[in-house]
Amino acid sequence: MLLGRLLPLFLLLAVTSASIAYDDAGLPPVNRTSFPEGFIFGTASSAYQYEGGAAEGGRGPSIWDTFTHKHADRIANRSNGDVAVNSYHLYKEDVRLMKDMGMDAYRFSISWTRILPNGSLSGGVNREGVRYYNNLINELLSKGLQPFVTLFHWDSPQALEDKYGGFLSPNIINDYKDYSEVCFKEFGDRVKHWITFNEPWTFCSVGYASGTFPPARCSSWEEGKCNVGDSGREPYTACHYQMLAHAETVRLYKEKYQGVQKGKIGITIVSHWFTPFSQSRSDIDAARRAVDFMLGWSLDPLIRGDYPLSMKRLVGNRLPQFTKEQSKLVKGAFDFIGLNYYTGYYTEDVPPSLNKSYNTDAQANTTGVRGGLPIGRQAASPSLYIYPQGFLELLLHVKENYGNPTIYITENGVDEATNNSLPLQEALKDDIRIEYYHKHLLALSSAIRAGANVKGYFAWSLLDNFEWRDAFTVRFGINFVDYNDGLKRYPKNSAHWFREILQKNVLL
Ligand SMILES: *[C@@H]1O[C@H](CO)[C@@H](O)[C@H](O)[C@H]1NC(C)=O
Ligand SMILES: *[C@@H]1O[C@H](CO)[C@@H](O)[C@H](O)[C@H]1NC(C)=O
Ligand SMILES: *[C@@H]1O[C@H](CO)[C@@H](O)[C@H](O)[C@H]1NC(C)=O
Ligand SMILES: *[C@@H]1O[C@H](CO)[C@@H](O)[C@H](O)[C@H]1NC(C)=O
Ligand SMILES: *[C@@H]1O[C@H](CO)[C@@H](O)[C@H](O)[C@H]1NC(C)=O
Ligand SMILES: *[C@@H]1O[C@H](CO)[C@@H](O)[C@H](O)[C@H]1NC(C)=O
Repeated sequence: MLLGRLLPLFLLLAVTSASIAYDDAGLPPVNRTSFPEGFIFGTASSAYQYEGGAAEGGRGPSIWDTFTHKHADRIANRSNGDVAVNSYHLYKEDVRLMKDMGMDAYRFSISWTRILPNGSLSGGVNREGVRYYNNLINELLSKGLQPFVTLFHWDSPQALEDKYGGFLSPNIINDYKDYSEVCFKEFGDRVKHWITFNEPWTFCSVGYASGTFPPARCSSWEEGKCNVGDSGREPYTACHYQMLAHAETVRLYKEKYQGVQKGKIGITIVSHWFTPFSQSRSDIDAARRAVDFMLGWSLDPLIRGDYPLSMKRLVGNRLPQFTKEQSKLVKGAFDFIGLNYYTGYYTEDVPPSLNKSYNTDAQANTTGVRGGLPIGRQAASPSLYIYPQGFLELLLHVKENYGNPTIYITENGVDEATNNSLPLQEALKDDIRIEYYHKHLLALSSAIRAGANVKGYFAWSLLDNFEWRDAFTVRFGINFVDYNDGLKRYPKNSAHWFREILQKNVLL
């Protein structure tokens, strides 16, 4: 850290020696010149995972606050995001870390209940919340970093959950639109990239089919063993209203704010890549269905105005329908698509399940292992297999099947396990992460050379942080957070690696 304040030549030497540990195993180099002019590099975060300050500054409770406190037993080590990594107070230091790495942008999310504590405009705008985000945005801009702002990263207001069931009710559309409008008004003079929702797939499938994330609704036989819910219907309903809230909000932004503020608006969707388990026709079809049920669930409405045919066929009347007018509204409702990618799986055709759930409707079973061999090296999260080939294939699939939309990669990353007996200096050696980024950036660069219209890349994540149910037991950060010593931040080797590849004027 201190070295970064010395002379540039010294800095270069420090960087070089730090990255020597990483053996690129004959991979071609990757750096800014591998990407088009103006390509943006950044890191990403989200409010509940980073901010803390849960009870400070007039913030109201979200469903994640309720869940982590009511069901502490379902969170690793009974942790929660009350303090998280304290970016509510340490944001200036965080911005400095980004600057030190040579990043161009920062993707963060606004906590809805920090702006509207009871979710609705009628409950009042919390000026202290507005002030926090103004401070963060101004700090970023003063350091030459562009803010990319996510309006919703899963932390829906508990008050709206109690009042009408949150995203299961069409009432959410107006409340979400009101909240977004406050953000456009307050921050839109400086924020030029808006992301309405983060990963509808995760919010709807894990929150309403598996039931392991809040609002923790599912059928009783599903993984979450919920008391209430219907895994065969509610995921589709929640995502339907989320898509309509997205589209209405995009319309509002375009009609009322875009002309003056000159920003862009989009949505972030996530997809794994699914490759057939065997070369049988049935497995090839199953892999395609798996892509439709994950990527297509959000992307088909946005590009074509309707759900994928495979979903309509298999889900039938449990899948809500867009009216003609809604279909027109949703189709094309974006300036860019944010795409998150982490992993890939083998996919096998399976017969229909008697118990209806989003999790079984695709009739596609996924696994990371075939013939005893993993599809890629396994990360700390057992479901995360390192599979850069899938990133390339996903990008080409989007280019070829969805009219090559403008894309920002809004998340991509890998985790290691927290090990409290590891000395700090050892914990900073994250060669597996450097290899992950190196290979995924090469895949991205290939996709762009093949014509994919990608404008920027955000690594997940700036810091180690509260990883939902895994809490602090896994670490996705490029920078280490010392949970045993006041949440002090330290660059890992991957932070040095990024600084090296992002340098604009390499001294040779
Ligand atoms: C940057 O990457 C390109 C390949 O894309 C390579 O030719 C060049 O040598 C690299 N530059 C540095 C300074 O590593
Ligand atoms: C929020 O507060 C306002 C004003 O007190 C009230 O009218 C409204 O019903 C509240 N909304 C919720 C969801 O509690
Ligand atoms: C299907 O649902 C029934 C109850 O309706 C339950 O007993 C059974 O375990 C479920 N089967 C599966 C595979 O989840
Ligand atoms: C799907 O795969 C899992 C292992 O990942 C296995 O336990 C299960 O039986 C499979 N389901 C079917 C229907 O083949
Ligand atoms: C944690 O680190 C210690 C010290 O290096 C090591 O002995 C131990 O095997 C590690 N634990 C795990 C689970 O990797
Ligand atoms: C979680 O709890 C386990 C068992 O008590 C402990 O070994 C581990 O260090 C804890 N992890 C964190 C991140 O605090």
